[in-house]
Amino acid sequence: MAILSVDNLSIGYQTKKGMLKAVNDISFSIEQGRSLGFVGESGCGKTTIGMTLMGLLPDNASILSGNINFMEKDLCDFSEDQWRNIRGKDVAMIFQAAMNALNPVFRVGEQIAEAIVTHNPAFSKNEVNDRLKKLYNMVEIPEHRISDFPHEYSGGMKQRAIIAMALACSPKLIIADEPTTALDVIVQDQILKEIKKIQQALNMSLIFISHDIAVVAEVCEDICVMYAGQIIEKGSKREVFTSPKHPYTKTLLSSYLSLDSDENILIPDMMETPDLIDANPGCQFSCNCNCRSTECSKNAPGWIDISKTHKAFCCEQGLSRTNNG
Ligand SMILES: Nc1ncnc2c1ncn2[C@@H]1O[C@H](COP(=O)(O)OP(=O)(O)OP(=O)(O)O)[C@@H](O)[C@H]1O
Ligand SMILES: [Mg+2]
Repeated sequence: MAILSVDNLSIGYQTKKGMLKAVNDISFSIEQGRSLGFVGESGCGKTTIGMTLMGLLPDNASILSGNINFMEKDLCDFSEDQWRNIRGKDVAMIFQAAMNALNPVFRVGEQIAEAIVTHNPAFSKNEVNDRLKKLYNMVEIPEHRISDFPHEYSGGMKQRAIIAMALACSPKLIIADEPTTALDVIVQDQILKEIKKIQQALNMSLIFISHDIAVVAEVCEDICVMYAGQIIEKGSKREVFTSPKHPYTKTLLSSYLSLDSDENILIPDMMETPDLIDANPGCQFSCNCNCRSTECSKNAPGWIDISKTHKAFCCEQGLSRTNNG
């Protein structure tokens, strides 16, 4: 059974120019112990989804429609008190660029201990210290570094400490938003392996957000590809990563893989950014799609089932023109 199930969710930001639809009618679910990746270009709505699941949307944002069911509770109706009860405890987030958020004047261990105490106020000092040591072992930072200040940590260690902080209360669901983007590839790879190992060992559900499809494929079992606030392809890692169907997914992947259907997937020199305030009624990717027909900017696409688990939000023509590999 799904621990989280999101149905037809739309989220908007009120801006001076009007309502910006950052997330547009998305549906997905995740089961206990599974990992789901969200991938897509900058501004496609990935962080907005994470912030919504943490109850941390800014004041100018609102849920326009849809349902979010987490552990059999409807999060759309939650009061701030209810959010405080589950945030950090049942659902935790590793925030984008979080490693710069460690407070420079406090020791790293103290900052993680504070997260432990917040959700376990009855813990004795010894229990907090034991938990702290366990967390340091889990993220593979030597225990003797507990009392160091943030400036004494490398970037990779800071990121591990942030992961430890998110794990402080063994959440059921963890949302990792670009957790390794600022790191060099070797440290990135170590931390991705770490996240995967911990997620499996603790049987947590993981939502992993990145603009890099190869990174998402390394960590996640299932993948949702996003474009302009919409999910445009979803399926298992194998289906989406090795057998992509949507022209945008193919464009994303073409920098990593040599595809058989290359002749149809020319990456445009300049990608146009779709307008999220005054969206066209048709396919949001149509302005950049080399497989488009004249109908694509007029008629919204529909979901096409490729397998029981693999779906693409496209038109038959778009799929068949990219499907000759
Ligand atoms: N507070 C805000 N007010 C108005 N618009 C916002 C606000 N926050 C985000 N947006 C807009 O919502 C859209 C989605 O933003 P979001 O941060 O979710 O994207 P993202 O996929 O996480 O991008 P990135 O990969 O750059 O982190 C963007 O068009 C962004 O400009
Ligand atoms: Mg983001």
